[in-house]
Amino acid sequence: MLIRSICVLIPAVFILLKPALAENLPTSPYVGEKVCANCHQEQSRQWQGSHHDLAMQHANEETVLADFSDTSLTHDGVTSKFSRQGGKFIVNGI
Ligand code: HEC
Repeated sequence: MLIRSICVLIPAVFILLKPALAENLPTSPYVGEKVCANCHQEQSRQWQGSHHDLAMQHANEETVLADFSDTSLTHDGVTSKFSRQGGKFIVNGI
């Protein structure tokens, strides 16, 4: 009887608390580089214009350097196809 009660009670508690738990979860919005630069000024200065900085840019006509006009590239036995769908840049690894 006790075991049966526990088996019913524990899932019931989770079911009842689940919405409250989900509401209390912290959100982690993207804060962007300017927030980090407030404290990390030297790192931010070194990062500006680096390959990593440029790689984080939004993909558009000005920032994408590769040829995405239905081209492909094979490296280490893996072929990747580059194409466009509307304004999106698509890479398919095969
Ligand atoms: C309010 C000030 C502040 C802000 C804003 C801040 N940091 Fe920091 N960060 C620090 C301090 C202080 C340290 C510890 C430095 C130390 O131990 O020498 C640190 C350490 C770090 C480290 C570890 C460095 C190491 O050598 O181990 C990284 C990585 C880092 N921060 C990244 C970021 C990023 C990414 C952001 C933005 C999302 C950010 N920080 C925003 C103050 C800040």
